[in-house]
Amino acid sequence: MANNDPTSGAGADAVEATRRNFLYVATGSVAAVGAIATLVPLIAQMNPDASTLAAGGPVDLDVSKIEPGQQVVIRWRQRPIFVFHRTPETLKTLQDPKLTSQLADPDSQQLQQAPYATNWHRSIKPEYGVLVGICTHLGCIPMFYPQPNASSPAPDWLGGYFCPCHGSKYDPAGRVFSGVPAPYNLPVPPYTFVNDTTIRVGENPSGSTFDFGSIRQL
Ligand code: FES
Repeated sequence: MANNDPTSGAGADAVEATRRNFLYVATGSVAAVGAIATLVPLIAQMNPDASTLAAGGPVDLDVSKIEPGQQVVIRWRQRPIFVFHRTPETLKTLQDPKLTSQLADPDSQQLQQAPYATNWHRSIKPEYGVLVGICTHLGCIPMFYPQPNASSPAPDWLGGYFCPCHGSKYDPAGRVFSGVPAPYNLPVPPYTFVNDTTIRVGENPSGSTFDFGSIRQL
């Protein structure tokens, strides 16, 4: 397990800032305000009551309300869970050798996800990413930058997650880049689709016995 208590040192302020904000919706910086206004009620609606959360029970989310390119963040077992509705462009990027050649574990060989998410998109349906939003370096919450950008938050940015604490980079499927402090891909929590548009975080698909406690590093 990583040290998830980054409450001291240079990254502490950034950690606190990201933790305070983690229940808000993040999209590209341009659309962030509108997305928050639209989707915060959704989050409130989908979050279970306190007793369910305390028990670490499953959490349902209606993904049909997430527009392509948007991400919502829900809470499961006191952890932020990123749910990203990927665009066709993002799906193309995930398979682009220009990206995959820069990744430390592009084929998800390390046990950071269940077998049903051990594929190029690290998810059950390619268009929906579901990730534990905790950096595998020292436990900060990575920021969501879905749009490619020449210089921000890092040079030649192709879209994905950037950890503000020590500069680790992850692609839109949570795959970590080579040469950054974080050693592993972002974990994928156990989850399943209970119908076409509702995911249940904390429960495996029928027939899977994946144990979240068996992953290499959270
Ligand atoms: S906690 Fe160090 S790079 Fe994320």
